[in-house]
Amino acid sequence: DIISTVEFNHTGELLATGDKGGRVVIFQREPESKNAPHSQGEYDVYSTFQSHEPEFDYLKSLEIEEKINKIKWLPQHNAAHSLLSTNDKTIKLWKITERDKRPEGYNLKDEEGKLKDLSTVTSLQVPVLKPMDLMVEVSPRRVFANGHTYHINSISVNSDCETYMSADDLRINLWHLAVTDRSFNIVDIKPANMEDLTEVITASEFHPHHCNLFVYSSSKGSLRLCDMRAAALCDKHSKLFEEPEDPSNRSFFSEIISSVSDVKFSHSGRYMLTRDYLTVKVWDLNMEARPIETYQVHDYLRSKLCSLYENDCIFDKFECAWNGSDSVIMTGAYNNFFRMFDRNTKRDVTLEASRESSKPRAVLKPRRVCVGGKRRRDDISVDSLDFTKKILHTAWHPAENIIAVAATNNLYIFQDKVNSEMH
Ligand SMILES: *[C@@H]1O[C@H](CO)[C@@H](O)[C@H](O)[C@H]1NC(C)=O
Ligand SMILES: *[C@@H]1O[C@H](CO)[C@@H](O)[C@H](O)[C@H]1NC(C)=O
Ligand SMILES: *[C@@H]1O[C@H](CO)[C@@H](O)[C@H](O)[C@H]1NC(C)=O
Repeated sequence: DIISTVEFNHTGELLATGDKGGRVVIFQREPESKNAPHSQGEYDVYSTFQSHEPEFDYLKSLEIEEKINKIKWLPQHNAAHSLLSTNDKTIKLWKITERDKRPEGYNLKDEEGKLKDLSTVTSLQVPVLKPMDLMVEVSPRRVFANGHTYHINSISVNSDCETYMSADDLRINLWHLAVTDRSFNIVDIKPANMEDLTEVITASEFHPHHCNLFVYSSSKGSLRLCDMRAAALCDKHSKLFEEPEDPSNRSFFSEIISSVSDVKFSHSGRYMLTRDYLTVKVWDLNMEARPIETYQVHDYLRSKLCSLYENDCIFDKFECAWNGSDSVIMTGAYNNFFRMFDRNTKRDVTLEASRESSKPRAVLKPRRVCVGGKRRRDDISVDSLDFTKKILHTAWHPAENIIAVAATNNLYIFQDKVNSEMH
Protein backbone atom coordinates (compact mmCIF):
# COMPACT_ATOMS: atom_id res chain seq x y z
CA ASP A 1 0.00 0.00 0.00
CA ILE A 2 1.04 3.64 -0.32
CA ILE A 3 3.60 4.47 2.35
CA SER A 4 2.58 7.52 4.38
CA THR A 5 5.43 7.83 6.90
CA VAL A 6 8.94 6.47 7.66
CA GLU A 7 10.83 6.76 10.95
CA PHE A 8 14.09 5.29 12.31
CA ASN A 9 14.33 4.54 16.03
CA HIS A 10 16.88 6.53 18.02
CA THR A 11 19.80 4.26 17.21
CA GLY A 12 18.70 3.45 13.67
CA GLU A 13 18.53 -0.30 14.18
CA LEU A 14 14.80 -0.28 13.60
CA LEU A 15 12.83 1.46 10.88
CA ALA A 16 9.05 1.79 10.95
CA THR A 17 6.78 2.63 8.05
CA GLY A 18 3.08 3.40 8.12
CA ASP A 19 0.76 3.13 5.15
CA LYS A 20 -2.56 4.24 3.75
CA GLY A 21 -4.18 0.97 4.81
CA GLY A 22 -3.42 1.62 8.49
CA ARG A 23 -0.60 -0.91 8.68
CA VAL A 24 2.75 -0.48 10.38
CA VAL A 25 5.76 -2.45 9.10
CA ILE A 26 8.92 -2.54 11.22
CA PHE A 27 12.29 -3.39 9.69
CA GLN A 28 15.32 -4.46 11.68
CA ARG A 29 18.92 -4.16 10.63
CA GLU A 30 20.53 -7.56 10.52
CA PRO A 31 23.81 -7.89 12.39
CA GLU A 32 26.93 -7.86 10.20
CA SER A 33 27.51 -11.32 8.80
CA LYS A 34 30.62 -13.20 9.84
CA ASN A 35 31.56 -14.08 6.27
CA ALA A 36 31.65 -10.46 5.20
CA PRO A 37 32.43 -8.53 8.35
CA HIS A 38 32.58 -5.14 6.70
CA SER A 39 29.37 -5.46 4.78
CA GLN A 40 26.54 -3.35 6.12
CA GLY A 41 23.63 -5.12 7.69
CA GLU A 42 20.52 -5.16 5.57
CA TYR A 43 17.10 -4.22 6.87
CA ASP A 44 14.62 -7.10 7.01
CA VAL A 45 10.99 -7.17 7.99
CA TYR A 46 10.75 -7.61 11.74
CA SER A 47 7.05 -7.21 12.39
CA THR A 48 3.87 -6.11 10.64
CA PHE A 49 0.65 -5.15 12.34
CA GLN A 50 -2.61 -3.34 11.76
CA SER A 51 -2.49 -0.13 13.76
CA HIS A 52 -5.65 1.68 12.69
CA GLU A 53 -8.95 0.58 11.13
CA PRO A 54 -11.36 2.74 9.15
CA GLU A 55 -13.93 4.35 11.42
CA PHE A 56 -17.03 6.43 11.07
CA ASP A 57 -17.75 9.67 12.88
CA TYR A 58 -21.51 9.51 13.36
CA LEU A 59 -21.83 13.07 14.62
CA LYS A 60 -20.32 14.56 11.51
CA SER A 61 -21.20 11.74 9.12
CA LEU A 62 -17.60 11.49 8.11
CA GLU A 63 -15.39 8.55 7.32
CA ILE A 64 -12.18 8.54 9.38
CA GLU A 65 -9.41 7.11 7.26
CA GLU A 66 -7.10 4.46 8.70
CA LYS A 67 -4.05 6.05 7.00
CA ILE A 68 -1.07 6.42 9.37
CA ASN A 69 -0.02 10.08 9.34
CA LYS A 70 2.97 9.81 11.67
CA ILE A 71 4.97 7.31 13.71
CA LYS A 72 7.29 8.24 16.59
CA TRP A 73 9.50 5.84 18.56
CA LEU A 74 9.71 6.22 22.30
CA PRO A 75 13.11 5.95 23.97
CA GLN A 76 13.70 2.36 25.03
CA HIS A 77 13.58 1.66 28.78
CA ASN A 78 13.55 -2.14 28.87
CA ALA A 79 13.66 -5.05 26.46
CA ALA A 80 10.43 -3.89 24.82
CA HIS A 81 10.16 -1.23 22.10
CA SER A 82 7.34 1.29 22.05
CA LEU A 83 6.00 3.56 19.35
CA LEU A 84 3.20 6.02 18.83
CA SER A 85 1.19 5.92 15.62
CA THR A 86 -1.56 8.27 14.58
CA ASN A 87 -4.20 8.65 11.90
CA ASP A 88 -6.28 11.83 11.52
CA LYS A 89 -7.91 11.53 14.92
CA THR A 90 -6.56 8.84 17.21
CA ILE A 91 -3.05 8.26 18.58
CA LYS A 92 -2.08 4.77 19.73
CA LEU A 93 0.80 3.52 21.84
CA TRP A 94 2.12 0.11 20.79
CA LYS A 95 4.49 -2.18 22.62
CA ILE A 96 6.72 -4.52 20.67
CA THR A 97 8.23 -7.46 22.53
CA GLU A 98 10.27 -10.48 21.53
CA ARG A 99 9.63 -13.97 22.76
CA ASP A 100 12.00 -16.86 22.18
CA LYS A 101 10.95 -19.13 25.05
CA ARG A 102 7.72 -20.88 25.78
CA PRO A 103 6.51 -22.48 29.02
CA GLU A 104 5.87 -26.18 28.75
CA GLY A 105 4.61 -28.83 31.15
CA TYR A 106 1.59 -27.20 32.75
CA ASN A 107 -0.28 -29.30 35.24
CA LEU A 108 -3.82 -28.46 34.26
CA LYS A 109 -3.45 -27.50 30.59
CA ASP A 110 -2.11 -29.49 27.67
CA GLU A 111 0.34 -28.07 25.10
CA GLU A 112 -2.53 -26.55 23.10
CA GLY A 113 -3.76 -24.73 26.19
CA LYS A 114 -6.89 -26.87 26.61
CA LEU A 115 -7.88 -27.98 30.08
CA LYS A 116 -6.79 -31.54 30.86
CA ASP A 117 -9.14 -34.17 32.16
CA LEU A 118 -8.39 -33.74 35.86
CA SER A 119 -8.70 -37.44 36.58
CA THR A 120 -5.54 -38.00 34.49
CA VAL A 121 -3.53 -35.60 36.65
CA THR A 122 -1.86 -37.82 39.20
CA SER A 123 1.35 -35.98 39.97
CA LEU A 124 2.53 -32.37 39.98
CA GLN A 125 5.33 -31.08 37.81
CA VAL A 126 7.13 -27.75 37.54
CA PRO A 127 6.56 -26.04 34.14
CA VAL A 128 9.80 -25.20 32.32
CA LEU A 129 10.75 -22.57 29.71
CA LYS A 130 11.76 -24.16 26.43
CA PRO A 131 13.44 -22.28 23.58
CA MET A 132 11.35 -21.68 20.46
CA ASP A 133 11.57 -19.70 17.24
CA LEU A 134 11.73 -15.97 17.86
CA MET A 135 8.30 -14.45 17.92
CA VAL A 136 7.65 -10.70 17.81
CA GLU A 137 4.49 -9.69 19.60
CA VAL A 138 2.85 -6.32 19.19
CA SER A 139 0.25 -5.22 21.67
CA PRO A 140 -1.80 -2.06 21.96
CA ARG A 141 -0.99 -0.34 25.24
CA ARG A 142 -2.93 2.92 25.14
CA VAL A 143 -5.37 4.75 22.90
CA PHE A 144 -5.41 8.54 23.02
CA ALA A 145 -8.73 9.41 21.43
CA ASN A 146 -11.06 12.41 21.26
CA GLY A 147 -8.32 15.02 21.59
CA HIS A 148 -8.73 16.49 18.12
CA THR A 149 -11.54 18.04 16.12
CA TYR A 150 -9.37 18.58 13.05
CA HIS A 151 -6.84 16.33 11.30
CA ILE A 152 -3.69 15.45 13.23
CA ASN A 153 -0.62 16.36 11.17
CA SER A 154 2.18 15.83 13.71
CA ILE A 155 3.11 14.06 16.90
CA SER A 156 6.35 14.67 18.77
CA VAL A 157 7.78 13.04 21.88
CA ASN A 158 9.27 15.43 24.41
CA SER A 159 12.86 15.09 25.62
CA ASP A 160 11.48 14.65 29.15
CA CYS A 161 10.37 11.19 27.85
CA GLU A 162 7.09 11.54 29.72
CA THR A 163 4.98 13.75 27.53
CA TYR A 164 4.26 14.19 23.86
CA MET A 165 2.26 16.60 21.76
CA SER A 166 -0.13 16.20 18.88
CA ALA A 167 -0.98 18.98 16.43
CA ASP A 168 -3.96 19.40 14.14
CA ASP A 169 -4.88 22.23 11.77
CA LEU A 170 -5.85 24.62 14.57
CA ARG A 171 -4.72 23.23 17.90
CA ILE A 172 -1.82 21.56 19.66
CA ASN A 173 -2.36 19.27 22.65
CA LEU A 174 0.07 18.04 25.27
CA TRP A 175 -0.39 14.50 26.61
CA HIS A 176 1.20 12.46 29.34
CA LEU A 177 2.22 9.09 27.91
CA ALA A 178 0.49 7.28 30.75
CA VAL A 179 -2.77 9.23 30.73
CA THR A 180 -5.28 8.70 27.95
CA ASP A 181 -8.37 10.51 29.21
CA ARG A 182 -7.06 14.05 29.26
CA SER A 183 -4.71 16.31 27.37
CA PHE A 184 -3.80 19.96 27.75
CA ASN A 185 -4.40 22.40 24.97
CA ILE A 186 -1.17 24.37 24.50
CA VAL A 187 -1.94 26.22 21.25
CA ASP A 188 -5.32 27.23 19.87
CA ILE A 189 -5.46 29.41 16.78
CA LYS A 190 -9.14 28.78 16.02
CA PRO A 191 -10.74 32.18 15.45
CA ALA A 192 -14.06 32.94 17.13
CA ASN A 193 -15.58 33.06 13.68
CA MET A 194 -14.31 30.41 11.25
CA GLU A 195 -14.77 32.90 8.41
CA ASP A 196 -11.84 34.84 9.83
CA LEU A 197 -9.57 31.85 9.41
CA THR A 198 -6.50 32.77 7.37
CA GLU A 199 -3.83 30.40 8.61
CA VAL A 200 -3.53 26.78 9.75
CA ILE A 201 -0.90 24.77 11.63
CA THR A 202 0.97 22.48 9.26
CA ALA A 203 3.61 20.75 11.42
CA SER A 204 5.01 20.87 14.93
CA GLU A 205 7.97 19.48 16.87
CA PHE A 206 9.55 19.59 20.32
CA HIS A 207 13.08 20.90 20.72
CA PRO A 208 15.46 17.92 21.01
CA HIS A 209 17.04 19.08 24.31
CA HIS A 210 14.90 21.76 25.95
CA CYS A 211 11.67 20.16 27.09
CA ASN A 212 9.92 23.52 27.41
CA LEU A 213 10.43 24.59 23.78
CA PHE A 214 8.53 23.59 20.68
CA VAL A 215 7.96 25.01 17.22
CA TYR A 216 5.01 24.99 14.89
CA SER A 217 4.83 25.98 11.25
CA SER A 218 1.97 27.52 9.35
CA SER A 219 0.35 27.65 5.96
CA LYS A 220 1.59 31.25 5.65
CA GLY A 221 5.22 30.20 5.76
CA SER A 222 6.00 31.26 9.31
CA LEU A 223 7.48 29.40 12.27
CA ARG A 224 6.53 30.10 15.85
CA LEU A 225 8.77 29.03 18.68
CA CYS A 226 6.88 28.65 21.94
CA ASP A 227 8.09 28.36 25.52
CA MET A 228 5.86 26.41 27.88
CA ARG A 229 7.57 28.04 30.85
CA ALA A 230 6.19 31.42 29.79
CA ALA A 231 2.51 30.43 29.87
CA ALA A 232 0.36 27.33 29.97
CA LEU A 233 -1.37 28.35 26.76
CA CYS A 234 1.27 29.23 24.18
CA ASP A 235 -0.93 31.22 21.81
CA LYS A 236 1.58 34.01 22.16
CA HIS A 237 4.79 32.71 20.64
CA SER A 238 8.14 33.76 22.03
CA LYS A 239 9.75 34.00 18.60
CA LEU A 240 8.31 34.40 15.13
CA PHE A 241 10.47 33.35 12.19
CA GLU A 242 9.31 34.81 8.92
CA GLU A 243 10.94 35.81 5.69
CA PRO A 244 9.76 39.08 4.18
CA GLU A 245 8.23 38.44 0.79
CA ASP A 246 9.99 39.66 -2.31
CA PRO A 247 7.31 41.90 -3.86
CA SER A 248 8.61 41.22 -7.36
CA ASN A 249 7.79 37.52 -6.92
CA ARG A 250 4.22 38.07 -5.75
CA SER A 251 1.68 35.99 -7.64
CA PHE A 252 -1.58 34.13 -7.19
CA PHE A 253 0.43 31.13 -5.95
CA SER A 254 2.72 32.94 -3.50
CA GLU A 255 0.85 31.96 -0.40
CA ILE A 256 0.28 28.35 -1.48
CA ILE A 257 3.92 27.72 -2.29
CA SER A 258 5.16 29.37 0.90
CA SER A 259 3.11 27.04 3.12
CA VAL A 260 5.52 25.04 5.27
CA SER A 261 4.95 21.31 4.84
CA ASP A 262 7.51 20.10 7.39
CA VAL A 263 9.72 21.44 10.17
CA LYS A 264 12.61 19.59 11.85
CA PHE A 265 15.02 20.71 14.56
CA SER A 266 18.66 19.86 13.87
CA HIS A 267 20.17 17.21 16.15
CA SER A 268 22.21 19.97 17.79
CA GLY A 269 19.04 21.95 18.52
CA ARG A 270 20.56 25.12 17.08
CA TYR A 271 18.77 25.14 13.71
CA MET A 272 15.41 24.39 12.18
CA LEU A 273 14.85 22.96 8.72
CA THR A 274 11.66 23.76 6.82
CA ARG A 275 10.27 22.63 3.51
CA ASP A 276 7.92 24.60 1.34
CA TYR A 277 6.82 23.75 -2.18
CA LEU A 278 9.92 24.91 -4.02
CA THR A 279 12.63 25.23 -1.38
CA VAL A 280 14.19 23.93 1.83
CA LYS A 281 15.38 26.49 4.34
CA VAL A 282 17.66 26.42 7.37
CA TRP A 283 16.80 28.81 10.20
CA ASP A 284 19.01 29.72 13.10
CA LEU A 285 17.11 29.82 16.39
CA ASN A 286 18.88 33.08 17.09
CA MET A 287 17.77 34.84 13.92
CA GLU A 288 14.12 35.45 13.22
CA ALA A 289 14.28 37.85 10.28
CA ARG A 290 15.15 35.34 7.56
CA PRO A 291 16.56 31.85 7.00
CA ILE A 292 20.33 31.54 7.01
CA GLU A 293 20.26 29.16 4.04
CA THR A 294 17.76 28.61 1.23
CA TYR A 295 18.11 25.74 -1.24
CA GLN A 296 16.09 25.40 -4.43
CA VAL A 297 14.59 21.92 -4.71
CA HIS A 298 13.08 22.20 -8.17
CA ASP A 299 13.08 25.81 -9.24
CA TYR A 300 12.24 24.75 -12.81
CA LEU A 301 8.66 24.24 -11.61
CA ARG A 302 8.24 27.97 -10.94
CA SER A 303 6.94 28.48 -14.46
CA LYS A 304 4.63 25.44 -14.18
CA LEU A 305 2.69 26.45 -11.08
CA CYS A 306 -0.51 26.93 -13.03
CA SER A 307 -0.71 23.34 -14.20
CA LEU A 308 0.55 22.07 -10.83
CA TYR A 309 -2.36 23.94 -9.28
CA GLU A 310 -4.79 22.39 -11.70
CA ASN A 311 -3.64 18.85 -10.96
CA ASP A 312 -3.45 19.59 -7.21
CA CYS A 313 0.26 18.75 -7.03
CA ILE A 314 0.94 22.22 -5.63
CA PHE A 315 -0.65 20.99 -2.38
CA ASP A 316 1.75 18.05 -2.01
CA LYS A 317 3.37 17.96 1.42
CA PHE A 318 7.05 17.12 1.10
CA GLU A 319 9.03 16.31 4.21
CA CYS A 320 12.68 17.05 4.91
CA ALA A 321 15.48 15.43 6.95
CA TRP A 322 18.90 16.18 8.43
CA ASN A 323 21.80 13.74 8.36
CA GLY A 324 23.23 12.67 11.71
CA SER A 325 25.75 15.50 11.90
CA ASP A 326 23.40 18.21 10.54
CA SER A 327 25.72 18.82 7.61
CA VAL A 328 23.53 17.43 4.83
CA ILE A 329 19.83 17.96 4.10
CA MET A 330 17.54 15.65 2.18
CA THR A 331 14.09 16.20 0.71
CA GLY A 332 11.91 14.67 -1.98
CA ALA A 333 10.73 15.81 -5.39
CA TYR A 334 8.81 14.44 -8.40
CA ASN A 335 9.67 11.64 -10.82
CA ASN A 336 10.94 9.57 -7.85
CA PHE A 337 13.78 12.05 -7.50
CA PHE A 338 15.12 13.25 -4.17
CA ARG A 339 17.58 16.00 -3.46
CA MET A 340 20.54 16.36 -1.12
CA PHE A 341 22.24 19.59 -0.15
CA ASP A 342 25.65 19.68 1.50
CA ARG A 343 25.67 22.74 3.76
CA ASN A 344 29.44 23.02 3.90
CA THR A 345 30.43 22.53 0.29
CA LYS A 346 27.14 23.99 -1.04
CA ARG A 347 27.02 21.15 -3.51
CA ASP A 348 23.71 19.54 -4.30
CA VAL A 349 22.64 16.41 -6.08
CA THR A 350 19.46 14.92 -7.55
CA LEU A 351 19.14 11.17 -7.05
CA GLU A 352 16.52 8.72 -8.20
CA ALA A 353 14.85 5.99 -6.17
CA SER A 354 14.36 3.08 -8.54
CA ARG A 355 14.66 -0.69 -8.68
CA GLU A 356 17.80 -0.23 -10.71
CA SER A 357 19.56 1.97 -8.17
CA SER A 358 18.54 -0.15 -5.19
CA LYS A 359 20.23 -3.35 -6.37
CA PRO A 360 23.02 -4.56 -4.10
CA ARG A 361 26.23 -2.63 -4.77
CA ALA A 362 24.51 -0.37 -7.27
CA VAL A 363 25.70 3.19 -7.10
CA LEU A 364 23.21 6.02 -7.14
CA LYS A 365 23.78 8.01 -10.30
CA PRO A 366 23.11 11.73 -10.12
CA ARG A 367 20.26 12.84 -12.37
CA ARG A 368 19.77 16.17 -14.06
CA VAL A 369 16.62 17.93 -15.12
CA CYS A 370 17.22 20.15 -18.09
CA VAL A 371 15.38 23.39 -18.55
CA GLY A 372 15.65 24.42 -22.18
CA GLY A 373 19.17 24.98 -23.46
CA LYS A 374 21.61 22.20 -24.22
CA ARG A 375 20.48 18.76 -23.26
CA ARG A 376 23.08 16.27 -22.16
CA ARG A 377 22.75 12.52 -22.45
CA ASP A 378 20.62 11.06 -19.63
CA ASP A 379 19.12 14.46 -18.87
CA ILE A 380 15.40 14.50 -18.40
CA SER A 381 13.35 17.42 -19.59
CA VAL A 382 10.94 19.20 -17.26
CA ASP A 383 8.05 18.25 -19.50
CA SER A 384 8.67 14.54 -19.18
CA LEU A 385 8.78 14.48 -15.36
CA ASP A 386 6.21 12.10 -13.91
CA PHE A 387 4.22 14.06 -11.33
CA THR A 388 2.42 10.97 -10.05
CA LYS A 389 5.74 9.59 -8.77
CA LYS A 390 6.57 11.74 -5.77
CA ILE A 391 8.86 11.24 -2.83
CA LEU A 392 7.10 12.84 0.11
CA HIS A 393 8.58 10.85 3.00
CA THR A 394 12.25 10.29 3.74
CA ALA A 395 14.30 9.51 6.84
CA TRP A 396 18.01 9.58 7.64
CA HIS A 397 19.65 7.11 10.02
CA PRO A 398 20.60 9.07 13.17
CA ALA A 399 24.27 8.11 13.09
CA GLU A 400 25.19 6.63 9.72
CA ASN A 401 24.84 7.33 6.04
CA ILE A 402 21.75 5.22 5.57
CA ILE A 403 18.57 6.74 4.18
CA ALA A 404 15.04 5.45 3.77
CA VAL A 405 13.04 6.83 0.88
CA ALA A 406 9.36 6.09 0.34
CA ALA A 407 8.32 6.20 -3.30
CA THR A 408 4.55 5.60 -3.41
CA ASN A 409 4.30 1.95 -2.36
CA ASN A 410 7.99 1.09 -2.45
CA LEU A 411 10.49 1.65 0.32
CA TYR A 412 14.10 2.12 -0.74
CA ILE A 413 16.97 1.94 1.71
CA PHE A 414 20.27 3.26 0.45
CA GLN A 415 23.46 2.80 2.41
CA ASP A 416 26.75 4.64 2.60
CA LYS A 417 27.73 5.01 -1.06
CA VAL A 418 25.17 7.75 -1.44
CA ASN A 419 27.33 10.63 -0.38
CA SER A 420 30.37 9.68 -2.38
CA GLU A 421 28.17 10.40 -5.35
CA MET A 422 27.32 13.94 -4.45
CA HIS A 423 27.95 16.47 -7.21
C1 LIG B 1 16.54 0.92 18.56
O1 LIG B 1 16.38 -0.45 18.25
C2 LIG B 1 17.51 -1.28 18.56
C3 LIG B 1 17.26 -2.67 18.01
O2 LIG B 1 16.30 -3.37 18.71
C4 LIG B 1 17.78 -1.26 20.06
O3 LIG B 1 18.91 -2.04 20.37
C5 LIG B 1 17.98 0.17 20.49
O4 LIG B 1 18.13 0.23 21.90
C6 LIG B 1 16.82 1.07 20.04
N1 LIG B 1 17.18 2.42 20.39
C7 LIG B 1 16.47 3.19 21.19
C8 LIG B 1 17.11 4.46 21.62
O5 LIG B 1 15.34 2.92 21.54
C1 LIG C 1 12.03 35.08 -6.73
O1 LIG C 1 12.05 34.33 -7.93
C2 LIG C 1 13.33 33.96 -8.40
C3 LIG C 1 13.18 33.19 -9.68
O2 LIG C 1 12.16 33.67 -10.47
C4 LIG C 1 14.04 33.10 -7.36
O3 LIG C 1 15.34 32.78 -7.78
C5 LIG C 1 14.08 33.83 -6.04
O4 LIG C 1 14.63 32.99 -5.06
C6 LIG C 1 12.68 34.27 -5.61
N1 LIG C 1 12.74 35.01 -4.40
C7 LIG C 1 12.14 34.62 -3.28
C8 LIG C 1 12.33 35.52 -2.11
O5 LIG C 1 11.48 33.60 -3.23
C1 LIG D 1 26.52 13.63 7.12
O1 LIG D 1 27.00 13.85 5.80
C2 LIG D 1 28.39 14.10 5.72
C3 LIG D 1 28.71 14.46 4.30
O2 LIG D 1 28.43 13.40 3.44
C4 LIG D 1 29.17 12.90 6.18
O3 LIG D 1 30.55 13.18 6.14
C5 LIG D 1 28.76 12.55 7.60
O4 LIG D 1 29.36 11.35 7.97
C6 LIG D 1 27.25 12.42 7.68
N1 LIG D 1 26.93 12.22 9.08
C7 LIG D 1 26.24 11.19 9.50
C8 LIG D 1 26.17 11.03 10.96
O5 LIG D 1 25.66 10.43 8.74
